[in-house]
Amino acid sequence: MGLSQQAPHFANAPHFAIAIDGPAASGKSTIAKHLARRLGLVMVNSGAMYRAVTWKVLELGINPDDHTAVVQALQAMNIECGTAGNFSTIAIDGRLLDEELRGTEVNLAVSRVAAVPEVRSLLVQLQRDYLQHTSLVMEGRDICSVVFPDTPFKIYVDASEEVRAARRSAEGVTDSVAARDKADSNRTTAPLIVADGAIVLDNSDHTVASAVEAALDILRSQGLSHEDSGDA
Ligand code: DC
Repeated sequence: MGLSQQAPHFANAPHFAIAIDGPAASGKSTIAKHLARRLGLVMVNSGAMYRAVTWKVLELGINPDDHTAVVQALQAMNIECGTAGNFSTIAIDGRLLDEELRGTEVNLAVSRVAAVPEVRSLLVQLQRDYLQHTSLVMEGRDICSVVFPDTPFKIYVDASEEVRAARRSAEGVTDSVAARDKADSNRTTAPLIVADGAIVLDNSDHTVASAVEAALDILRSQGLSHEDSGDA
């Protein structure tokens, strides 16, 4: 059981969470990664967890729209979340997943699998479990609103659709960010929203360095006094 829902205990918990949400290709992963390095925390990529379940569903030949089959497959999966250095890792049925999570097929199917309530409740639990082991920066779509609603440290990273689409094509990835955002924002369970207490960081015109500084300013305004290691 994660600690995040124990609101009265949060301030006394040994570990804390910095929560970052935002649409696809807004730059939230890059900001989260740099923040984690600067602050000496683990960076948890929650999108990779939804991608991993989606990858497995596709590998099993299951139609991502077949709710019953997706849930059955989910229940049979052995999902192992861990860390390697300062980063989260995910393995399913003993296979550590990385590059395969960013392929076009997963991009096209992930919003449908991520809309399945049973998938969300299992992965939210695994996300909260990280806090038992370490302080962290976690990025995703519902981290501020659902996973760690009681953390004071909440940022919503945004960027214009043009900038986000350009970012994806520069990465050489086929990903319709607009379609994915629409699906992620309109689903019934845990849609992408600017959560209560989250401060919006518009990352359309920032460099990585200035975005990280802007994020640190926001976190300080939210009361973060964690030691800054000063690493770039
Ligand atoms: O961050 P990303 O683009 O890798 O996320 C992939 C998909 O996973 C995204 O389109 C929606 C889903 N997701 C989610 O529903 N909730 C999260 N906390 C993180 C990702």
